[in-house]
Amino acid sequence: MRHLISAADLTRDDAVLILDTAEEMARVADRPIKKLPTLRGRTVVNLFFEDSTRTRISFEAAEKRLSADVINFTAKGSSVSKGESLKDTAQTLEAMGVDAVVIRHGASGAPYRLATSGWIDAAVINAGDGTHQHPTQALLDAFTMRRRLIGRDTGLGQDLTGRRVTVVGDILHSRVARSNVDLLHTLGAEVTLVAPPTLLPIGVGEWPCEVSYDLDRVLPKTDAVMMLRVQRERMNAAFFPTEREYSRRYGLDGERMARMPGDAIVMHPGPMVRGMEITAEVADSDRCTVLEQVTNGVSIRMAVLYLLLGGNESEAAHQAQAGT
Ligand code: CP
Repeated sequence: MRHLISAADLTRDDAVLILDTAEEMARVADRPIKKLPTLRGRTVVNLFFEDSTRTRISFEAAEKRLSADVINFTAKGSSVSKGESLKDTAQTLEAMGVDAVVIRHGASGAPYRLATSGWIDAAVINAGDGTHQHPTQALLDAFTMRRRLIGRDTGLGQDLTGRRVTVVGDILHSRVARSNVDLLHTLGAEVTLVAPPTLLPIGVGEWPCEVSYDLDRVLPKTDAVMMLRVQRERMNAAFFPTEREYSRRYGLDGERMARMPGDAIVMHPGPMVRGMEITAEVADSDRCTVLEQVTNGVSIRMAVLYLLLGGNESEAAHQAQAGT
């Protein structure tokens, strides 16, 4: 694997290797000095054309834990405002010596273009492009499910065969939903999407999942429910659902959560809009993994950087155990 552009590009074995390597990387976070020398002398640029809290900081933490040199670029305050193109921006950064580019962009396909155009030689990692893909989010979600539903040690080498995952909300604009459907299908999980008809994409019937409009009917058969934010910034105002109506049919409150099996978990990629898609009672409950997902994101991004920039799993295990 030279780039990570889409969760759909990963085979079952690729995905399990990343999850297993991330478990080795998580050991580093348990140590007093949270660093490996693996990427010493390598430079990674975080190229963010869209806002981000979790993904940008998580990649930076992952890069620093692997001892990489880190360059942070945000479009705001850069020469993008003067009209500089993606090609010229990327080539300018590569001219300073870059081994990997982590890119978030509002245009679906921008990371693919960067990886395949021949503009730069660096490895490209998609940190979210438009409504298309967010592969490291899907990987950290799968990692969180495997840990919670199977176990940290017992999960090693395993996929998610037979686990039932429900994804609820604004599927139309969600790169998280697309990436999760692709990856969870590859890992053997059964996925159901629940959304208002206006927030489902054309062609969703071709996706490898079920579709339902009735959250209450689906919840009792769910091992993990993933609540999504309604992405108003990507919507024409005329299509905004009212908050009250949306919450009544698609929001998760304590009463609805009680319909889920006792060991089922509640997930959210963040940022959450408390009160609309999820109540504070649910968001702050022990069953909600939102902060675990953030923690796990650092391990997943360490694993992806490590594998893309030339490592292998047994070396990662050796380094993590030896404390080098
Ligand atoms: N989950 C996620 O992508 O969050 P950010 O937009 O804060 O990076």
